[in-house]
Amino acid sequence: MSKKRVVVLTGAGVSAESGISTFRDSGGLWEKYDISEVATPEAWERNQALVMEFYNQRRKQLYEVEPNAAHYALVKLEEKYDVRIITQNVDDLHERAGSGNVMHLHGELKKVRSSVDENLVYELEGWKLKKGDTCEKGSQLRPHIVWFGEPVHMIPKAAELCSTADICIIIGTSLNVYPAAGLVGYTPPGCPVYLIDPAEVNVLHIPGVKLIREKAGTGTVTLVNELLNQLP
Ligand code: OAD
Repeated sequence: MSKKRVVVLTGAGVSAESGISTFRDSGGLWEKYDISEVATPEAWERNQALVMEFYNQRRKQLYEVEPNAAHYALVKLEEKYDVRIITQNVDDLHERAGSGNVMHLHGELKKVRSSVDENLVYELEGWKLKKGDTCEKGSQLRPHIVWFGEPVHMIPKAAELCSTADICIIIGTSLNVYPAAGLVGYTPPGCPVYLIDPAEVNVLHIPGVKLIREKAGTGTVTLVNELLNQLP
């Protein structure tokens, strides 16, 4: 018999206990930086050095952190379930923990791409992207990040995946950013939806959601053990 499919939607909170700042919590990144100055195509046009430095710092930090208990619990869930992760995060902690199926909605920090042809995507060696680093067409490389105002190309694929879920788990996202926040709406009617987040998240658009008001580490480990124990 084929395994039940669990679609997991993750946000910055799943990596918080690894030491990566979230965006909108108090002390979060968007308190320290202005989105319009570092995370938009206009910012890139205005000040490439500043945008590169912002993402260089994020990338440098990524080499200093490790996956946490929540990332590892999702790997363990694969023992009995077909687990598909859709993440808003640009870190690679799900992959480093060992998750087999990870879709990145908002890009990946360790990748860079051509600024004239978005299909030319490269793994960056080391953490530092510099002025003068170019693609094979000779244009400056930019962070492989979906900035505010840019289309989220992975959404149709992600929505299709959500429509095949038997169970959905949402972890550590304020559900402020669309279209990602709307993906849960594509899960089939009756699909159980769990949301793990220590804060009060606006879930009016998720009828019947089961709220687990805990940090990702403890909340995910407990839920994963429960789901594993439900099966022989
Ligand atoms: P946010 O910073 O908006 O939300 C983080 C969520 O994580 C909040 O609901 C927190 O309560 C929760 N949280 C904090 N610590 C946690 C912990 N230890 N365990 C579990 N949850 C915890 O981050 P996102 O919702 O991921 O996009 O933000 C979505 C997008 O906005 C990001 O992908 C990024 C950002 O701007 C781009 O940069 C394109």
